Amino acid sequence: MVYKYFMNIQSMKLIFLGPPGAGKGTIARMASERLGIPQISTGDIFRTAVKEKTELGLKVQSILAAGALVPDELTIAIVKERLSWPDVRQSYILDGFPRTIAQAEALATFSKPDSAVDFEVDDDLILFRLTGRRICKSCGAIYHIVTKPPVTEGLCDLCGGELYIRNDDREETVKIRLKAYHEESEPLIEYYSRQGILMAIDGSPDPETVYNTFISKIRRYLKK
Ligand code: AP5
Ligand code: MG
Ligand code: ZN
Repeated sequence: MVYKYFMNIQSMKLIFLGPPGAGKGTIARMASERLGIPQISTGDIFRTAVKEKTELGLKVQSILAAGALVPDELTIAIVKERLSWPDVRQSYILDGFPRTIAQAEALATFSKPDSAVDFEVDDDLILFRLTGRRICKSCGAIYHIVTKPPVTEGLCDLCGGELYIRNDDREETVKIRLKAYHEESEPLIEYYSRQGILMAIDGSPDPETVYNTFISKIRRYLKK
């Protein structure tokens, strides 16, 4: 595992918090590609299920489209099962979970995160980021038409796959997702702060800067 040599640590169990569009997926992918830490995105799991029209997909399709949260019980069961796989025994990044206090309390019963990283971004920047987001249909790479455009419009630089717009990235739905974030997920910042494992990061600079801040803070934090 690459990250062990890079960071000189044995275990790195991380939660990524932050509003929609904060860059959780972007930074988690960078960490996963560069350090080999498995990324678990509940949003990606749900979107794959919708695309493949599985039983789960049929259950969550309308919830995702409306920008609401999937019920805790269902989400917790999925993460619990995924965290039982051998690849995440020592390290993982949970991207988009937990998103409610109930989910955080459930997580504590089956896994103990080392740190909760909160990416701070203002609501006005979020709207700009999400309405310009494009995602590769084949490999899931994340682009932005202004801040990270692909070399060839509409096509993924990495695999040539077609880029698409998430159907919850329309302005009206983004506003509903933001409301859900402030009401249901923001209390997690205090929850993890009280546990002494919160790490706040300014998510507004460019991705490379955010990533470097993340790495240096994690290094310092895990050395403590
Ligand atoms: P999910 O897929 O997790 O969506 P989200 O939390 O709304 O977050 P996003 O994926 O929209 O944002 P992100 O922070 O990953 O930003 P990204 O890196 O892509 O969840 C989707 C849905 O699933 C939910 O609405 C809910 O229904 C359900 N769900 C998921 N988890 C759940 C749970 N635990 N409980 C219940 N329901 C759940 O970046 C965004 C854009 O900005 C991109 O275009 C990117 O290129 C650009 N960008 C990113 N960083 C930067 C930067 N530093 N500078 C410039 N541009 C940047
Ligand atoms: Mg994401
Ligand atoms: Zn691709």
